[in-house]
Amino acid sequence: MQISVVGSGYVGLVTGACLAYLGHTVTCVDIDPAKVESLGAGRSPIYEPGLDDLLAAGLASRRLSFTTDLGAAAAAEVIFIAVGTPPRADGSPDMQFVQNVARSIGHAIAASNDQVTRVIVNKSTVPVGSGNWVEMLVVEGQRDDERDGGKPRRSGGLANEAERRGTFAVASNPEFLREGSAIHDTLYPDRIVIGANDARAVNALRAVYEPILSQQFTPPTAIAPRPEGFRAVPLVVTDLASAEMIKYAANAFLATKISFSNEIANICERVGADASQVMRGIGLDSRIGTRFLNPGVGWGGSCFGKDLSALIGIAGEYQYDPELLRSAVAVNERQRQVVIRKLQNALKIVKGRTIGLLGLAFKPDTDDLRDAPSITIAEALIGMGARVKAYDPVAGDVCFRQRPDLDLVYAESAEDLAAGCDAVVLVTEWEEFARIDLSRLAKVMSGDVFIDGRNVFDTSSIERAGLRGGGIGR
Ligand SMILES: NC(=O)c1ccc[n+]([C@@H]2O[C@H](COP(=O)([O-])OP(=O)(O)OC[C@H]3O[C@@H](n4cnc5c(N)ncnc54)[C@H](O)[C@@H]3O)[C@@H](O)[C@H]2O)c1
Repeated sequence: MQISVVGSGYVGLVTGACLAYLGHTVTCVDIDPAKVESLGAGRSPIYEPGLDDLLAAGLASRRLSFTTDLGAAAAAEVIFIAVGTPPRADGSPDMQFVQNVARSIGHAIAASNDQVTRVIVNKSTVPVGSGNWVEMLVVEGQRDDERDGGKPRRSGGLANEAERRGTFAVASNPEFLREGSAIHDTLYPDRIVIGANDARAVNALRAVYEPILSQQFTPPTAIAPRPEGFRAVPLVVTDLASAEMIKYAANAFLATKISFSNEIANICERVGADASQVMRGIGLDSRIGTRFLNPGVGWGGSCFGKDLSALIGIAGEYQYDPELLRSAVAVNERQRQVVIRKLQNALKIVKGRTIGLLGLAFKPDTDDLRDAPSITIAEALIGMGARVKAYDPVAGDVCFRQRPDLDLVYAESAEDLAAGCDAVVLVTEWEEFARIDLSRLAKVMSGDVFIDGRNVFDTSSIERAGLRGGGIGR
């Protein structure tokens, strides 16, 4: 099928590259000319395992292309909107990018002379009701275009609202990929959700996703193999509003599960229980499940905080106070300070100390620093007068570029980081950190404090290395 994906960030680029891999012809659009140029030359602006290979294969097969020209891309039968919806100061999502794209699609539809019915798909995470709003904006875009040109471009123009609406259908297709395993998650998802009030949209998206739904494709070798026994993907078809709500509810649940673990961990610490053992003990109950029960420095990233704020805002618009969701956010904010409190306990004086942060990315296998706990912790420590060093396998350069104001000393390796540190804090659970020889780390440090903010090491191995401080919740 002919597909366009508007917005070539973490979601749009991965979606475009995967759909091209599956045999569709995909045009990825982005407003940023430097990004488009780099992608067209086969260079991914983001770090995502396996993406470079898929990008190269897509470009070589000519099934994947990049452009800044949304007008041309809007000729496709299916147009995904995958632009950012970042949080505004009040916590509500900034919808201006979606708004611009929806209007431009309307312009492009009006300007085209074909009889193709477009399916416009909201893949961006957007508030409930956005499907209807996008529909309105596309119609407005069509109207603008007819006015702009002075005379209608279609023969006779589109006489009325119903005729305009007939040229397209809107769907919600929320994205659940996780950065760091985004391609794997796209090709082997737990489910695909399609929300639409129009059967044309559901049918088109079913066709787009058919290879994934039936798993009829040769797995790419650049990523981990298809999970054993993975044969088909459940398709959840709903109305527009329910699909939009599914995305928010899923993220709210996951974030709450982590905040729950942290709440229990904080109590564990006080009563002398070991949160890791407690989580294993409860997680084996199949109603609970072991995943997402890891106490640590709290959740971060571009989605959880933003999506929870948005959901809390939506509830507020309908005069509902979502107490549980507000608490999940509050627990998370407090959790980032737990590391600071532990450092104060262990070092007593923080001012003038050298503190090393192992990891900057909000989670392993990504270079994404959006709402990363590392940044909150670094800012707090710098504010307290400490000298802060940092090492991340991939996100160091990104941090240097994005936060030139942050007075960090960048290290080249874990050992380089530890050299001269009074304390080291493990913030991101990169796999290479689990292989660190703690005794060697201890030798090059000036002090003996090691805070394992992700419970990567057992307490005994930290102690054996002559380090103190421990993990979270134990
Ligand atoms: N990142 C994730 O893990 C993830 C997961 C699920 C859902 N989402 C949602 O997906 C959406 C996109 O997230 P992302 O992380 O990919 O964002 P991103 O910031 O990485 O990418 C957005 C891209 O859109 C481009 N853009 C902005 N305005 C444009 C326009 N008018 N025309 C063309 N391109 C335009 C930007 O230049 C940028 O490249 C968000 O709503 C987010 O909440 C993200």
